[in-house]
Amino acid sequence: MTETVDRLFVHCRQLVTLTDGAPTGPRRREAMQPMGVVEDGAVAVKDGRIVAVGTTDEVTAAYRAEEELDLDGFVVMPGFVDCHTHPVFAATREREFHMRCAGADYMAIAQAGGGILSSMRDVRAASLEALTERTERNLWRFLEHGSTTIEAKGGYGLSLEAERKSMQALDAAAAMVPLTLKRTFLGAHEFPPEYREDRDEYVRIVCEEMIPALAPMAEYCDVFAEPGVFTLEQSERVLRAGLAAGLRLRAHVDEIQPMGGTEMAVALGADTVDHLGQISDDGIAAVAASDTTGVMLPGTIFFLAKTGYAPARKMIEAGCAVALATDFNPGSSHTQSMTLIHTIACTQMKMSVEECIVASTINPAFSLQLDHEVGTLHPGKRADLCVLDIPSYQALGYAFGGNPVAMTIKDGVPVVANVADRQPDWFADGVVLDGEDEDAV
Ligand code: NIG
Ligand code: FE
Repeated sequence: MTETVDRLFVHCRQLVTLTDGAPTGPRRREAMQPMGVVEDGAVAVKDGRIVAVGTTDEVTAAYRAEEELDLDGFVVMPGFVDCHTHPVFAATREREFHMRCAGADYMAIAQAGGGILSSMRDVRAASLEALTERTERNLWRFLEHGSTTIEAKGGYGLSLEAERKSMQALDAAAAMVPLTLKRTFLGAHEFPPEYREDRDEYVRIVCEEMIPALAPMAEYCDVFAEPGVFTLEQSERVLRAGLAAGLRLRAHVDEIQPMGGTEMAVALGADTVDHLGQISDDGIAAVAASDTTGVMLPGTIFFLAKTGYAPARKMIEAGCAVALATDFNPGSSHTQSMTLIHTIACTQMKMSVEECIVASTINPAFSLQLDHEVGTLHPGKRADLCVLDIPSYQALGYAFGGNPVAMTIKDGVPVVANVADRQPDWFADGVVLDGEDEDAV
């Protein structure tokens, strides 16, 4: 007897299931190695969920479906989970890129009123419709790069009204794009010009006015803890106000100069500490002994031409749960390519391909409380798949500069295809393909 399902994906050259580890929880140290690879693999999908994975022979013996997609020649893995992004902005900032190429420094540009403050001016000036439209375009591009779940921050409004508009734009955009998405309030991203001389007053407004008003529009509260931006004490106040409003915590810490932000955020029970280029040994020990995920953002270091990559080897060997993310934003990391992040992590941080895969699937899913839903191909989870035009999963990160994602499947439905010559036979009637006509930025 065969059971009828909605769709079968068959003949995957390699199916990277990650099912030989626990379905939930972060993977640490050597538990980051097993990939659960099935050669000539198949996935059965019903109601958007994975029903079974196995060889094509096994799956087709037990399940049949009216729609069967032949993924012959492709590597298929869980959709990427990008757990640190800033997609709500109104304009790009290529002018600063040109200034940096001519020798200007990122923090110096920021202190001269550029950087985050330049995005703040753009967001404040934008209509809700314009901000929504740009955000929607940004969200589609995550799917084009194989990410099916993201964390998305506001943080370019820096006032109650402009942060509200940012979260409204995010909600409106997310409603139009088939991504699983969690939202983060980041009012403490920078000090707006009107409070630069009275910074504690802005911290008070964030804690007493913005967080209570906007907490219903977010799952997390974040802060940019960095010398010259929010001090350790101000950052702790912001995070505590987030907790008091029922938000969970994520924190930008120890990016450019060490400040003990990691230890502070771990002590508050943050789900993530992010950046970590300057994390101390005490910070590493704190993360290793906790359920806080260390989120490494090598695209930022690469693009700002800095030297402080997060010490991935030290962190993994110490037993930290680690994740990789794009930090997609208009200033310091304008990429949505998780596979480019893999290239940088492998070459500059000496991570293995297997560690990169775990760090961009199940570990970030855990950091978003979505590990029961996504991050591996265990039956019962969402059928979110990334279809890669590479000869084996070991080639992830190897061919850089292009997009190896041939197709992205969300909740069992192909939503993006990037390989034009395969489209006619890939899409049976009724399979909706969208987002493939997005303009370049
Ligand atoms: O994660 N750390 C601060 N925020 C962003 C940079 C944002 C920007 O330059 O617009 C980051 O790197
Ligand atoms: Fe960031």
